[in-house]
Amino acid sequence: MEIEGSVVLVTGANRGIGRALVGEFLARGAARVHAAARNPASLAAVVAEDPARVVPVAVDLSAPDTITAAAEAAPDVTLLVNNAGSHGMGHLLDMDLALVEEVMRTNFLGTLRVLRAFVPVIERNGGGAVVNVISIGAFGATPALGGYPASKAALHSMTQAVRQDLAPRGIGVHAVFPGPVDTDMLDYVIGHEPAFGDFPRATSAEVARATLDGLAADAEDIFPDSFAVGVGELWRSDPKGVERRLSGIS
Ligand SMILES: NC(=O)c1ccc[n+]([C@@H]2O[C@H](COP(=O)([O-])OP(=O)(O)OC[C@H]3O[C@@H](n4cnc5c(N)ncnc54)[C@H](OP(=O)(O)O)[C@@H]3O)[C@@H](O)[C@H]2O)c1
Repeated sequence: MEIEGSVVLVTGANRGIGRALVGEFLARGAARVHAAARNPASLAAVVAEDPARVVPVAVDLSAPDTITAAAEAAPDVTLLVNNAGSHGMGHLLDMDLALVEEVMRTNFLGTLRVLRAFVPVIERNGGGAVVNVISIGAFGATPALGGYPASKAALHSMTQAVRQDLAPRGIGVHAVFPGPVDTDMLDYVIGHEPAFGDFPRATSAEVARATLDGLAADAEDIFPDSFAVGVGELWRSDPKGVERRLSGIS
């Protein structure tokens, strides 16, 4: 995928990995970046990075009308980055089921809704690409992470399914599988389970750079940090070993 000159939409662009992705797309010559967040007021600093090229737009993954409106407000998109995601800690057998439902609704169904809204847009613009920010948690569940790994496994499965459907329509589909990244989400996880603080953490900027390197190289599966690279190698050689590695964290 040629990044220079592309028109990008990044969800969850107000902070963390999404914000770093916006900066990296700008640095590599994207013509325009639609920066999406559920609260557009939280995008002020992102827009200020390059007001001529960064356009704020409202997208709440749990509010379908905002997704439909965004696809109308951003008719020039050629590259969709599904980055927004939520988390809810606990053990599946006894945690609040509403938290499990919220995470599945956001990370799986919400992302699917965004994809369905933007595929016709990208197609009308002559094709392009979709990037789904998943997680190494898609390959093996850590018990303390509640419904999050299941939501990411579902997102991975959806990514594989739509890759086949979108290839003949001129749209490449890329999966990104980060390991631990130093963002508010990881702080939340460590706040509940301090053991997660023992792992090396990548920065959002590193993840953004590696993601765009992978995209530019047309890699289908992108492992954007050293922890993720290790899990990816194990996934290829010993999938059962990944289950043992990730389920053994806590
Ligand atoms: N950090 C890690 O260790 C790690 C590892 C693997 C994968 N990931 C994935 O990377 C992506 C970005 O996460 P991050 O680490 O950058 O976390 P973050 O700093 O907590 O950012 C999460 C982003 O998702 C947005 N979001 C959450 N629920 C939303 C909803 N219903 N509608 C629209 N936006 C919503 C948040 O918006 P608000 O500001 O409005 O809440 C925020 O912009 C996520 O998909 C996450 O699962 C993260």
